[in-house]
Amino acid sequence: MQNHHRKSSSFVSTGIPIVGGAIVALSLLWAFWPMISFSFTSPNPNNFKTGVDSATPGGLSGPGGSGRSGGQGFNFNLTHDPPESTFYDDPNLTYTIEKPITNWDQKRREWLWLHPSFIPGLETRVLLVTGSQSTPCQNPIGDHLLLRFFKNKVDYCRIHGYDIFYNNVLLHPEMFTYWAKIPAVRAAMLAHPEAEWIWWVDSDAAFTDMDFKLPLHRYKNYNFVVHGWPELIYKKKSWTSLNAGVFLIRNSQWALDFMDVWAGMGPQTPNYEKWGELLRKTCKDKFFPESDDQTGLVYLLLKEKEKWGNKIYVEDGYYFEGYWMEIVGRLENITEKYNGVEKRVSKLRRRHAEKVRGAYVTTWEEYLKGAGYGREGWRRPFMTHFTGCQPCSGTHNEEYSRQGCWDAMQKVLNFGDNQVLRNYGFVHPSLGDSGSVVPLPFDYPA
Ligand SMILES: *[C@@H]1O[C@H](CO)[C@@H](O)[C@H](O)[C@H]1NC(C)=O
Ligand SMILES: *[C@@H]1O[C@H](CO)[C@@H](O)[C@H](O)[C@H]1NC(C)=O
Ligand SMILES: *[C@@H]1O[C@H](CO)[C@@H](O)[C@H](O)[C@H]1NC(C)=O
Repeated sequence: MQNHHRKSSSFVSTGIPIVGGAIVALSLLWAFWPMISFSFTSPNPNNFKTGVDSATPGGLSGPGGSGRSGGQGFNFNLTHDPPESTFYDDPNLTYTIEKPITNWDQKRREWLWLHPSFIPGLETRVLLVTGSQSTPCQNPIGDHLLLRFFKNKVDYCRIHGYDIFYNNVLLHPEMFTYWAKIPAVRAAMLAHPEAEWIWWVDSDAAFTDMDFKLPLHRYKNYNFVVHGWPELIYKKKSWTSLNAGVFLIRNSQWALDFMDVWAGMGPQTPNYEKWGELLRKTCKDKFFPESDDQTGLVYLLLKEKEKWGNKIYVEDGYYFEGYWMEIVGRLENITEKYNGVEKRVSKLRRRHAEKVRGAYVTTWEEYLKGAGYGREGWRRPFMTHFTGCQPCSGTHNEEYSRQGCWDAMQKVLNFGDNQVLRNYGFVHPSLGDSGSVVPLPFDYPA
């Protein structure tokens, strides 16, 4: 549980908190407006179109449902951008973090009214954002590992119909490493008004359950979701009481305001050093002097709980991201368990197109009821995070060996890859062997 060591991510800055009661009213409106006048044409085989986007049904994936959430599920009109002016035409609006943006919910809503093909399915539309440095990795196999981590995310996103953006340049020159994510997330919000959620995922985190879907219904009343443990946050005040390397943030004015405050602790501000001291005073187990985004987040939960806390969901119900040391040794046994279920249940073994994986997920759920969500259970952990091992720089926490980190990464990536390759008819016979696969016999693993 409390094994969350430091990891690299990124963030941003400017620093002017803006809040207001008006947001509540706005968000109420917001909750209803998408339903107002867009009847969702049901898929009709005679309307079937080929071309830029095909008419795939789905998308209104309800609570935890298995439908597609957005990216590819609708007839988006990708050539429609009417001349009416929107926030894009405002010369005062900047993508950079120096200048706060106001009235964003309204601006985003106006854009959507002008681009109505993006309205159906809006609430569950997710854009995954990740990235890495702009220069080659120091670790000789670092770029290769990053490629594999990226492939893993692309696989997950393709399967779930999510868009993905990989950024590999600092959008604010002084906001390096774990601070770099804030400017990237902000820019992503402006670039993707059609996305309700931006999902930051560090480069060294991998999906280890390709079927698990974010339970977005649980976050309906929240704007920010992070993996953590409330008792460690509020009682122990530990800087590892949550992990800031993976988070979901709602594309909203709240988010922009929150990121301005959060970024206000970053290296681009004159207060960086002071924040470093203050964060160490607040979280006694923080062992390095620099202000960092993760401790900053713990600080905001502790000190500005009334202001932000009611919109922040601290998820500890499943591996929203999980500590690799807690996971990697269990992967073989988990594979056995899943294979055992498939041996018994022929409908789960049926070969199928990748696009209709979702149909099998629902069936799987019946057999995963007793599998738990944590380290005691045998459900595949949703996401495995290499906290303390840095694939690109090659540095790692003293507790682990370099080889231990690389071997674990191969295993975790192959574990995820096997779930994908399955649809293509192949499997890595050993999690430790990245280079070879065998074809799967018909009706495997009967
Ligand atoms: C998409 O937008 C273009 C430009 O506004 C329009 O001509 C076209 O009819 C639209 N396509 C659909 C399917 O609505
Ligand atoms: C941009 O900001 C300037 C200075 O604050 C203001 O005078 C101008 O009206 C603004 N322009 C727009 C399009 O909002
Ligand atoms: C894996 O399963 C075997 C056999 O059931 C068990 O002895 C072993 O402790 C398990 N390993 C782990 C890491 O859970």
